[in-house]
Amino acid sequence: MKNIKEFNYKILVESPGRINLIGEHIDYNGGNVLPAAIDKKILLYFKKNLDNSTCKVSSLHYNESITFKLSKETKKINSNWKNYIIGVVYYLKKLSGSQLNGFECMIDSNLPLGSGISSSSALVCGIIKGLNDLFEFKISKYEMINIAQKVEHNFIGVKGGIMDQFAIFFGEKDKIILLNCNSLKLKMINSKFSPYKFLLLNTNVNHNLSSSDYNKRVNECKNALKKIKNIDNKLSCLANASEDIIINNKSLFTNNEYKRALYVSQENQRVLKSTKLIESSNLIEFGKLMYNSHEGLKNLYEVSCKELDFLVNHSKKYSHILGSRMMGGGFGGCTINLIKENYIKPYIKLVSKKYLNKFSKKLTPIEISIENGIKTIKK
Ligand code: GLA
Repeated sequence: MKNIKEFNYKILVESPGRINLIGEHIDYNGGNVLPAAIDKKILLYFKKNLDNSTCKVSSLHYNESITFKLSKETKKINSNWKNYIIGVVYYLKKLSGSQLNGFECMIDSNLPLGSGISSSSALVCGIIKGLNDLFEFKISKYEMINIAQKVEHNFIGVKGGIMDQFAIFFGEKDKIILLNCNSLKLKMINSKFSPYKFLLLNTNVNHNLSSSDYNKRVNECKNALKKIKNIDNKLSCLANASEDIIINNKSLFTNNEYKRALYVSQENQRVLKSTKLIESSNLIEFGKLMYNSHEGLKNLYEVSCKELDFLVNHSKKYSHILGSRMMGGGFGGCTINLIKENYIKPYIKLVSKKYLNKFSKKLTPIEISIENGIKTIKK
C-alpha cells in the first residue's frame, strides 16, 4: 500500500466523530438530541482515477483495500468497512449517473472505531463529501445526509437515526446542536462549560455486534407508536407522546414496548430541560439529567452493560464530576463525563486502575474538544 506522501491526492476530507450530550436513542423516534462534532477525525485523501471506471479505496487502519469497477458493484448487506464504500457509490451513481467516474481514496484515522463516537457515519459522510467535491456534484448537505442514512440502513443493515450525520455536517466549533429529529430544525447552542470539559472513557467493549439489538429497539418503538396512535392519531412520533399517555395506557403495550416508550418520552423531556440549563450555565442540574439519562438507558431501554454502569456509578463518588452516562448506541463503547478540567488527569489515572482491576481490561480515555464539522481541503 502506498503512503500518503506518494499518493499525490487532489483533495483531503476531514470527517469528525461526534459526541452527544444527552438524548440517546431518540433520533429515530423523532425526538430532540444535543450532539456536536469533535476534534477526532477520519482523514480521506481522494484523486480521480485516470482509467475512468476503476475505484480503489485503501484503509491504512485495516491495511486492506477494495478495488471495483463502477459498472460492477452489487448490493448486499454486511458490516465490513468496504460495504460503506460500495453503498455510497451505489447511491451516488443513481443520483449523478455518468458523472461519477473512477477514483482512488486513502483513509487514515485518529477516531477510535466501534466506541460509540460514530466512526461509521464519519466514514460514510467522508466518502460522500469527498466524491461530491472531487466530481463537483454540488449535492446539498441534506441530500448527503440522506444518502449516508440510506447506506447504513440498506448496506450495513442498521436502522439508525439521523443524529450522527447532522452533527458531522453541521457541527461548529464550541457549539452544541439542538436538533429536532422530527422537523429536522436545528438550533446552535453556545457552549460555555469552563472550568468543566467533556471526557470520554472507552470501555473497549466493542459494540459492533449490537446491530440486531439496535434494530430490535427500533422495532419495539415502532410498535409502541402504532399502538399509541390508536388513542391519539395526530401523534407524529413516539418522542412527542407524553409520559401520562404512556402510563395511563400501560395495558396496551408489551412490557418491553412500555419501557422503551416511557424512556423515549422522558429522555426527550430531559433534552429540552438540558438545553435551557446549558444556556443558563446551570451545569450542576444538567449533570443530574445526564445521570438520569443513564438510569433510563440502563433500566428502561436496556442498552447499557456492566462496564458502562461501573464507570457511571464510580463517577458519582466525585464532586469534580457533575454528570456521566453511556453515549451512542450502547452495549459497550464510551461514557461521556462532565468533569472539572484540572481533575481530568488524576481521574483518568484513578479510574483506569480500578477498571483494570475489576474487568482485566484497559480503559481508554479520550479527551475531546468541540470543533467544526466535515471539511474539504484542496491541495
Ligand atoms: C447510533 C446511531 C444514532 C443514534 C445513536 C443512539 O449512534 O447511529 O442514529 O440512534 O446510536 O442515540
